[in-house]
Amino acid sequence: MNQNQNKNDNFKNNALDFVSSNNNSEFKHINSGELFGSIIGYDDIKKIFTLSFLSEKPVHILLVGPPASAKTLFLMACMKLERSYFALGSHSSKVGMLDYLFEKRPRYFIIDEIEHMPLKDQTVLLSLMETGIITETKHQKQRSSQLKTWVFASCNNKDKLLTPILSRFIVLHFKQYSFDNFVTITKGIFKKEILPEDIAYDVAKEVWYKLKSKDIRDCLKLGRMCKTKEEIEWLVKTIKHYK
Ligand SMILES: Nc1ncnc2c1ncn2[C@@H]1O[C@H](COP(=O)(O)OP(=O)(O)OP(=O)(O)O)[C@@H](O)[C@H]1O
Ligand SMILES: [Mg+2]
Repeated sequence: MNQNQNKNDNFKNNALDFVSSNNNSEFKHINSGELFGSIIGYDDIKKIFTLSFLSEKPVHILLVGPPASAKTLFLMACMKLERSYFALGSHSSKVGMLDYLFEKRPRYFIIDEIEHMPLKDQTVLLSLMETGIITETKHQKQRSSQLKTWVFASCNNKDKLLTPILSRFIVLHFKQYSFDNFVTITKGIFKKEILPEDIAYDVAKEVWYKLKSKDIRDCLKLGRMCKTKEEIEWLVKTIKHYK
């Protein structure tokens, strides 16, 4: 997906070798090729996730990037792992998170749009991510426990996160797609939706150059409504008119 693409392609297969040769029984059945199968490109990021899954101790990952850059797709892929729990930053209160952590003891705690988590609630993560220890005081009684939990999260803007939280993550910044990547991804997505490759290319081109959008979601919206080049051109012209 980036200028290191060729270099990264070289270790794509190594990532899978790592998985299959790992002795840890918890990971024998992880196939990262399958896990991340719906994501086009980003072989280097897939490799980093795989290494984190295989680490003896938790290594937390935060994805930062523009809209429609596949952040949630990565988190959804992690959701396929056993003992994973998904939360939205905007719906994660301290009390709710602690209840869940004490009760379910997840191995993977996955938080999408973490920047919407209020600062006071983010503090739960500080100790969880550093030592695995969670503590709660309720009705003047205190309980604590120790977990082994990996935290994977995403956000558009990391400025709203506590600095010590950021320091506990490997922070990976996704860049805006180049035109070539934009086309490749659009073609890849529509392959599954049975839109001919040349039409998928036209969709990507019209969205990028005429609508001046770099959002893959716009390709999805248009591609799903059109079957011919003429239909795409008409739709783009009309959308521009009403913009
Ligand atoms: N690399 C990619 N491979 C496959 N599909 C992709 C890729 N990048 C974007 N998409 C498409 O874009 C859509 C949006 O992706 P996703 O929800 O992961 O974006 P996001 O980075 O989480 O965006 P937001 O910041 O708006 O939440 C996906 O459903 C998918 O169809
Ligand atoms: Mg998202």
